[in-house]
Amino acid sequence: MKILVTGAAGFIGANFVYYELGRFPDDEIVGLDALTYAGNLETLDEALKNPKFKFVKADITDAAAIDALFAAEAFDLVINFAAESHVDRSIEDPGIFLRTNILGTQVLMDAALKYKVPRYHQVSTDEVYGDLPLNRPDLLFTERTPIHTSSPYSASKASADLLCQAYLRTFGLPATISRCSNNYGPYQFPEKLIPLMIANCLADKPLPVYGEGLNVRDWLYVVDHCKAIDLVARSDRIGEVYNIGGHNEMTNIDIVKLILKALGKPESLITYVTDRKGHDMRYAIDPQKITTDLGWAPETMFADGIVRTIDWYLTNRDWWERITSGEYLAYYEKMYGDR
Ligand code: NAD
Ligand code: TYD
Repeated sequence: MKILVTGAAGFIGANFVYYELGRFPDDEIVGLDALTYAGNLETLDEALKNPKFKFVKADITDAAAIDALFAAEAFDLVINFAAESHVDRSIEDPGIFLRTNILGTQVLMDAALKYKVPRYHQVSTDEVYGDLPLNRPDLLFTERTPIHTSSPYSASKASADLLCQAYLRTFGLPATISRCSNNYGPYQFPEKLIPLMIANCLADKPLPVYGEGLNVRDWLYVVDHCKAIDLVARSDRIGEVYNIGGHNEMTNIDIVKLILKALGKPESLITYVTDRKGHDMRYAIDPQKITTDLGWAPETMFADGIVRTIDWYLTNRDWWERITSGEYLAYYEKMYGDR
């Protein structure tokens, strides 16, 4: 198999590249990334030593570059991870989210159709379902939950999903879609909750908790997510949507306190800041369909996964310290400076 992984220098894309190279050593992988602020080629250092892996710097909205790549390589499978992925940034500047997440998806799907790629997989998010109330723990997102978005980020991801389903129905694109909950693990950019809190803890900086910290997310270890995507993309379930979740709901404040405790830092570092606009209250996924159809279930207990993740950030300080300098520092100042 020859697989195109877009967004390969980002958090989940890179973890997926390593998962595939380890699990299917005969497959060839082309990792594509525009190397935006969130993409880091250093993350792929080890993969680049593997002759089965090749990196291409390209933007998924660049139709000519994508067409040339598809013409040159006969892909058997395209998996689209490339996206603008941070909700807070989408509130500051929605435009780039619409361009990359919607138009970029269209460009990839057009190329997949033109070059008759046998399979296209769209990596989506549970955020397309909006949020659930805190007082109804019985309610979970299923694949039949209506699309109901809150942020420009989730609206752009939902739009890409709808377009993907339209390409399937209208043009016969052999597509699948997966929608997962919040991932955590190695190589996550330190603007997202868990790595941001670890990095700030280690620097004895305040930990900015939005609102009262009572919002709930369903945390999934990134490698478990990669296994699920691999199963869906290699399955014969064309046209299906699969929810992927960790069965692991936690409030933000509990996560923050757990990180403080693990690193031996005082709770006085917690700083409650102005809430995110339109902040989704609770995400919780019912992954029954993928369990029944494909036998997938989350394997990593949060207690183990978070220790592994904290250890990774402790032993890979160079990786994240380099990216928390420069442009990122200016962003941090803008977002949190007088919040
Ligand atoms: P990320 O921001 O870490 O990585 C995204 C990657 O895409 C970066 O390497 C970036 O350089 C690249 N990229 C951005 N714009 C591009 C463009 N125009 N052309 C080519 N490459 C471009 O994001 P992530 O957390 O790895 O998320 C990967 C996918 O999973 C996204 O589609 C996201 O919506 C989805 N997702 C993520 C989570 C999560 O918890 N992280 C949860 C649900 C869904
Ligand atoms: P985030 O990692 O941005 O993921 P998402 O918004 O896509 O779920 O945020 C996870 C939760 O943590 C979300 O409820 C917002 C909250 N949060 C904070 O309280 N402080 C922060 O500095 C960040 C980045 C997030």
